[in-house]
Amino acid sequence: MKDCELINFKVRGDHTGSLVALEKGEDFPFEIKRVYYIWGTDQKVIRGHHSHRNLEQVIVCTSGSCDFILDNGYCREIFHLNSPAQGLHIKGNIWREFTNFSQGCVVMVLASEHYNPADYIRDYDLFLKTARES
Ligand code: TYD
Repeated sequence: MKDCELINFKVRGDHTGSLVALEKGEDFPFEIKRVYYIWGTDQKVIRGHHSHRNLEQVIVCTSGSCDFILDNGYCREIFHLNSPAQGLHIKGNIWREFTNFSQGCVVMVLASEHYNPADYIRDYDLFLKTARES
């Protein structure tokens, strides 16, 4: 799906363990202004239910696994995130829902902008309209 892709991070480390470093440049697509993370979510809960007008995000499941369901207004695609060495890069007006959280799942989100409630589209019909107009 356009504007959504899985990024494989460069994993550093040695016999003592692994490490991923994310810096703007070749390894990472934008300057990070905000980081937040989500945990303690029951398996069947569905979070998200929104898109963004002007935001890039890279979503990393740093522990456990979960499913991201992305919708561009024409089709849906499911991304199963289960590795701290991968990030899901979303840069367009994409409706997202995430669910199927494993025990101990931690989802870290790296964002290109500060928190702005006005950037959210939380109404699916409005999302469809904006997605199909662009
Ligand atoms: P969020 O999970 O996005 O809200 P919802 O589940 O209602 O869609 O956010 C939960 C709360 O955290 C909400 O009060 C807004 C706040 N919040 C911030 O203050 N900064 C942030 O970067 C985010 C993502 C949320």
